[in-house]
Amino acid sequence: MIISPEIIDDIKFKNPIEDVISSYVNLKRAGSNYNGLCPFHSEKTPSFTVFPSTQSFYCFGCGAGGDAITFVMRTENLDYLSALRVLASRCGVTIPENDVLTTGKKEVGRQRILEMNKEAAKFFHNCLLDEKLGAPGRKYLMNERKLSMAVINHFGLGYAPNNFFMLHDHLKKLGYTDDEMVVGFLCGKNDRGIYDYYRNRVIFPIIDIVGNVIAFGGRVLDDSKPKYLNTSDTPAFKKSKNLFALNFAKNHCEKQLVLCEGYMDVIALHAAGIENAVATLGTAITPEQARIFSRYTKKVIISYDSDEAGQRAADKAFKLLQEVGVDVKILKMKDAKDPDEYIKKFGASSFRSVIDDSKSKFEFECEKILTKYNILNTDEKVKAGHEICIAIASYPSEIEREIYCQKMSKVLDIPKESIKRDVLSIIKRRSREAKRNEETELYRKSSGIGDRVNPSSAEFLKANKIEEAILGLMQLYPSHLKLAIEKMKTEDFVTPLCKKIFKKIKECYEKTGKFDIAFIEENFNVDEISRITKMMAERQRLATNGEDVLLELISSLSKEKEISKDEDTVDSILDAIKKKKK
Ligand code: CTP
Ligand code: MN
Repeated sequence: MIISPEIIDDIKFKNPIEDVISSYVNLKRAGSNYNGLCPFHSEKTPSFTVFPSTQSFYCFGCGAGGDAITFVMRTENLDYLSALRVLASRCGVTIPENDVLTTGKKEVGRQRILEMNKEAAKFFHNCLLDEKLGAPGRKYLMNERKLSMAVINHFGLGYAPNNFFMLHDHLKKLGYTDDEMVVGFLCGKNDRGIYDYYRNRVIFPIIDIVGNVIAFGGRVLDDSKPKYLNTSDTPAFKKSKNLFALNFAKNHCEKQLVLCEGYMDVIALHAAGIENAVATLGTAITPEQARIFSRYTKKVIISYDSDEAGQRAADKAFKLLQEVGVDVKILKMKDAKDPDEYIKKFGASSFRSVIDDSKSKFEFECEKILTKYNILNTDEKVKAGHEICIAIASYPSEIEREIYCQKMSKVLDIPKESIKRDVLSIIKRRSREAKRNEETELYRKSSGIGDRVNPSSAEFLKANKIEEAILGLMQLYPSHLKLAIEKMKTEDFVTPLCKKIFKKIKECYEKTGKFDIAFIEENFNVDEISRITKMMAERQRLATNGEDVLLELISSLSKEKEISKDEDTVDSILDAIKKKKK
């Protein structure tokens, strides 16, 4: 256990899960639980449930689940320890540092890298400020890119001197090992030895929302290649799950966020007082990043470079952001290649009005379709009309659809009613398709196919259902927990995952006299934690949870174990599903 159970208990007690989650999700009371729209997948009817009695959450739609700590881990992309720190500071508890020193191996790796990164960031920043050493970096940032010292300090920008060993030697003096520097992507190793990766580059530290330096971007001072050197994924960093400058923008994002392509664009915008700008980290936007946007804001203005590559990337970003349900607009700049250049040429207030003029999804889509086809040609007009109907059909609001049909009827010179009829038939076809997909998905789930969290569930379908029910009951009631631990051994369970869960619950019970998922969390990944919570959540929905039920489950598990591979189960469950549908 990383931190003593007493402290975890204290932190959890002072952070009721319903309070923690309400600052992210709009929760409505439903009996003794709360419901809301799931922050981890896009949905229109709430299947996300918070259970105050067990201090946990579970989404019946996407299967995400856990306690307040895993909730913060998931929403803020933090590791266990950092999430615990967020909750600790939220309620004014301090985690004694010597407590943390006794951490398990995995956590030390990440924590060490974060500390090392902080030292490296300080080193790069000091080098930039150094009269002699930092001259090339200052010349580049201040003279060429016109950044003020205040902006340089605000972002903690730095300079890596043109030397193969300076950072390495500095970190070594501070007690970091070669291995740590290599794993943390600060140094590389070849047959001649270890050497600094970042040389003669200006440095952009990437900082997460709790202030950890998680990675670096380094830009060359001229036109040499590669233009940027970015930290690859390390135990402390996943570039697909973070955004540059979110640590600042998170305080200015209620109305909207501006998504840029580059570090320099973001810095230029912040310097001009537009502090809600962020950028992805040297890659196209990922679904995880899109979800971050949906948590922080309602509206995103995509402000990519005006070249063709930038516009193509904007298209992709558009789709991903739209899927997570934020209002997306696309900004079009004239006479500048990117926001940085635009602001230099035309000033901040002009850029603000470009932001205000950014186009809605529909305008953007139509413009694209209409520039693709020549609507004076009959064949092409048919195609354009069809694509426009598909676009309109994707809007769930009838009012919106009505307005767009009207608009398009004028543009295409086709009666509104015809457009509407086509749109409706597309919607009908789509909903039939969705229903079919849902059925296939139900079949896959019920037969355990594609279960990545517990791959052997498909093989032991029935036994797995029983063992999950037992583990669910153990989480729900202290009396069941005690009873199951008395009656059962780890070997009684069938799938490796359930064996491990039982083992950890038992260890936790023996140590602390109770069960709290927070005590075993570090042994499982977030998907496994979700599964554990699912077992509890599904049991909680049922009325029959007495001790007799538990005993019955235990005895049928041992019977079921004798039939190790039950070929019939898949078929019988499928039959049951079919019957239920009728
Ligand atoms: N990028 C990268 N590696 C490259 C080129 C670009 O990681 N070789 C990423 C960087 O995150 C960069 C972004 O893509 O910030 C946008 O690239 P680009 O427009 O080329 O760079 P700018 O940030 O606009 O830099 P500058 O203004 O100095 O050209
Ligand atoms: Mn650019």
